[in-house]
Amino acid sequence: MDRITQLRAEAPARIDAVLNVDALQDLERELIGRASIIAQQRKNLGRLSAEERPVIGAALNGAYLELKARLGARRTELELEAEDKLLGRERFDITLPVLEIPRGHHHLLTETVEEVCDIFTALGYSVATGPEVETAVYNFDALNTPPTHPARFESDTLYVNWGDPADELLLRTQTSPMQVRYMEQHEPPVYVIVPGRVYRSDALDATHSPVFTQIEGLSVDAALTFADLKGTLQYFMEKFFGAGRTIRMYPHFFPFTEPSAEMAVSCFNCEGSGCRVCGQTGWIELLGCGMVDPNVFDAVGYDATQVSGFAFGVGVERLAMVRHGIGHIRHFFDNDVRVLGQFR
Ligand code: DAH
Repeated sequence: MDRITQLRAEAPARIDAVLNVDALQDLERELIGRASIIAQQRKNLGRLSAEERPVIGAALNGAYLELKARLGARRTELELEAEDKLLGRERFDITLPVLEIPRGHHHLLTETVEEVCDIFTALGYSVATGPEVETAVYNFDALNTPPTHPARFESDTLYVNWGDPADELLLRTQTSPMQVRYMEQHEPPVYVIVPGRVYRSDALDATHSPVFTQIEGLSVDAALTFADLKGTLQYFMEKFFGAGRTIRMYPHFFPFTEPSAEMAVSCFNCEGSGCRVCGQTGWIELLGCGMVDPNVFDAVGYDATQVSGFAFGVGVERLAMVRHGIGHIRHFFDNDVRVLGQFR
């Protein structure tokens, strides 16, 4: 009985002195575990007299319950302390300003190309690309532009291999050679657009650059007419510049189309009354087009009596400059992020 009283008196201070859960566990084993004094004395209860047994038994029980409760309370305390410490260590200062990592985006040219591709793929067109170093045969001859043709000199470029016209290699002056490559590889019907970079010996000015981007369109089917060309371009312009645009077409010359035309779109900025964007004319000249010349069909082995088609070629820089009011073509390749960052 004395030992139990002593235990009850000493234990609380020992329990409070324990500083971590592991040590508490050891102490718990010592105080109320299987080898503890309380457990031993419980085992001995049977040897006590009938008067002593209930008194000692009750005292043991009381001591056991009290120690168990104190140990449990201390355990909760220690666990909370440990958690607080962890939180303290892992706390971070959310008042610090965020380091902004500038996020890039596609170049305006890429976005414009993708937008046009989206417009045409929604109509069922495929997208194809071709080589920038091209043979003179594809770039000119197969497009009804023989070596003596004046258009060949007008659209001069860098030659990678120069001499015998049959072996000449050059930086392509237009995406039109892909008309030929594509028709050689595919049977009609053909509905394809071809974005890509082209090269000319043009001097740099506000609207010309020796390197620029085009998108070629080609449609070949059993009975396509000029009306199909006009309807397709009208749709293209409405999708790109917004509802309400009208187009007008006027005669032009391209070696590989007959008849050929240029197309202008009604000014989206002034609705035709005349402004800076359209040079006071109400119209914005945008692209070349026409009905595929039978000689081009002959060059790719299509039967010109069985199929007809239309084609067009549009400058991508021009599309974006007109739409966004960009004043100089060099903004596309100066790559000043203050300029390009405005178009996301
Ligand atoms: N290739 C022409 C150029 O670069 C543009 C063009 C005109 C393409 C008429 C065409 C077309 O497909 O039919 O100036």
